[in-house]
Amino acid sequence: MRQVKTLGLLGTGVIGGGWAARVLHFGIDVIAADVKPEMEEWIRGAVANAEGALARLTFAPLPPKGRLSFTTDLHAMARQADFIQENIPEQLELKQRVLAEVSRHAPPDVVIASSTSGLMPSELQRDMSAPERFLVAHPFNPVYLLPLVELVGGQRTSAATLEAASHFFRYIGMHPLRVRREVPGHLTDRLQEALWREILHMVNEDVATTGELDDSIVYGPGLRWAAMGTNLIYHLAGGETGMRHMLRQFGPCLKWPWTKLEAPELTEGLIDKMVAGTQAQAAGRSIRELERLRDDYLVAIQQVLKQYNIGAGATLRALEERLYEDAGGPARAALSAGRPDGEPLRVLETRVRPEWIDYNGHMTDSRYLQVFGDATDALFRYAGIDDAYRRSGRAMYTVETHVMHKAEARALEPLYVTTRILETDDKRVRLLHALHRQRDEGLVATAEQVYLHVSAPPGKASAMDAAVRARLAAIQAAQASGAAAAAPTRA
Ligand SMILES: NC(=O)c1ccc[n+]([C@@H]2O[C@H](COP(=O)([O-])OP(=O)(O)OC[C@H]3O[C@@H](n4cnc5c(N)ncnc54)[C@H](O)[C@@H]3O)[C@@H](O)[C@H]2O)c1
Repeated sequence: MRQVKTLGLLGTGVIGGGWAARVLHFGIDVIAADVKPEMEEWIRGAVANAEGALARLTFAPLPPKGRLSFTTDLHAMARQADFIQENIPEQLELKQRVLAEVSRHAPPDVVIASSTSGLMPSELQRDMSAPERFLVAHPFNPVYLLPLVELVGGQRTSAATLEAASHFFRYIGMHPLRVRREVPGHLTDRLQEALWREILHMVNEDVATTGELDDSIVYGPGLRWAAMGTNLIYHLAGGETGMRHMLRQFGPCLKWPWTKLEAPELTEGLIDKMVAGTQAQAAGRSIRELERLRDDYLVAIQQVLKQYNIGAGATLRALEERLYEDAGGPARAALSAGRPDGEPLRVLETRVRPEWIDYNGHMTDSRYLQVFGDATDALFRYAGIDDAYRRSGRAMYTVETHVMHKAEARALEPLYVTTRILETDDKRVRLLHALHRQRDEGLVATAEQVYLHVSAPPGKASAMDAAVRARLAAIQAAQASGAAAAAPTRA
């Protein structure tokens, strides 16, 4: 299967727009195809709308944003894409027809995935050419913020397709959940549907309003569900003996009439109650306003969960790990190509993101620290201080930073950082970073920083790993001799 540089989107509504925003953010180009030409304006708006929340999701260094193009020619999209994600309306015959048609124009090593909420992959791939490269990849709205994607293979889907798709979705910061066998509704929608049917019953029977039912989740189980699912939570509910006790204690309830599951008839009366209830909950706020609110708390929750390395927070952490690894690529390439040779190392390539700009139109103070921090991170990763090293309880702490500003950097300006190791011993490293503009090599700022190696607990300065120390010392020695050789000699 090929490396995905361009994602083709088939159908560019709510879900197509969400896919576009996510992959563009992580540096992948998008060719969006829809039968309606007016969807071009819509998808560009959807991508712009998602940008604010995505920009706050992670401060890890990002590759340049991907480029978005739009076409109404589905065949042209199919010929150019490295991976195709279908997001057209949820109708079996329509999807079967369009997938079959598109598959005849896409080379056979191009994976084709469907966002279907509940259709079975074996039925969708029925008329396709090279059906083994087809799978269901079911995302959740908003696709650009929620990491879950359910992967379901059909009878003719190959293991290699599922593997390639998992790899791609992980690359764009998602959590691929492999569904063992196809069932209508996959896993999540089957669970959501059960809750939904009970809601409709209770509103229908005037047991509760839509708002009260939402409160019954939001103030309680919803908070737990962000990081632990029903099963693990019930295990905790059983006390010391966990799930076994829980089942003994609450087992009899399973026979009581707590749930109905079969949905009630969707009468006009029930529809009116659902609409009036949710309008009261919206309290005059537009869908756009509520989406922004939802996006903001989804970002905040993931950042909190990241500290606990759990659920969606663990996915975000893995994504950031990959982004830092990639950002450190130039330093590693330079070093493995025979460096250090005495030159400052080019450790980081980055770009001034629009949200980094101050009222003068230039990169704001705090972002200098972020960029220099990322540069240090790239260097230390090369030396062996990566996530695994930190998990062993050892890390580098910043103890001193001295920044000098020399010139301005504008929005979207490409930048790079070179780094010189001035001093290093068992516990300390002193660095000099220089931030340059790519357009004219102009020096934008320098930062001299001192780092201390710390073991926690007890949170005290400690000697760094011998291999790490040796790598840093080798760079420092080579740079010192290079600098001496380059220094002007006295007449
Ligand atoms: N909305 C959700 O919350 C959600 C969540 C997960 C999955 N899904 C699934 O994603 C798919 C799309 O849902 P949506 O909510 O984005 O729908 P949508 O109605 O917002 O978008 C569908 C788009 O497909 C286009 N389209 C229709 N026929 C086409 C064709 N023949 N070729 C190309 N484009 C065509 C339409 O013009 C429209 O822009 C469905 O299968 C749905 O079940 C939806």
